[in-house]
Amino acid sequence: MRVSGLLIIGLALGLVACSGRAHPHHTPTASVGERLFAAHCSACHGVGGTGTRIGPSLIHVRDRLHTAGLKAIILDPTPPMPRLVPGRLSRRDVVDIVAYLQTL
Ligand code: HEC
Repeated sequence: MRVSGLLIIGLALGLVACSGRAHPHHTPTASVGERLFAAHCSACHGVGGTGTRIGPSLIHVRDRLHTAGLKAIILDPTPPMPRLVPGRLSRRDVVDIVAYLQTL
């Protein structure tokens, strides 16, 4: 009992330490993502992600796609969605854009 309790505490501390290291240099910032989205994504997905005839609405996209899934679509999109990383957007930009998508 006592040993397994300690084990669980150890695992929990390990998880906290690891999640802290997952984004060592950057805190996701939705407000920055919103500006980037307006500049690079809204032509197809609409201002505020409400969609256009070209790109689907991204309202409540967080219900369909998790953080990793959203990131993967931006990093490796299906045409006609353009690949903007690397080049027009950095990986840090993608973290911010995903944070913004999760507010829609
Ligand atoms: C040239 C138009 C265009 C641009 C620019 C564009 N997209 Fe898209 N995007 C699309 C289209 C079209 C789809 C649907 C592709 C499909 O269904 O296979 C899509 C799909 C997506 C999806 C998946 C939606 C779902 O419900 O599965 C996400 C998320 C997304 N785009 C985010 C973005 C972000 C973020 C940007 C800016 C960095 C961006 N897109 C820029 C056209 C665009």
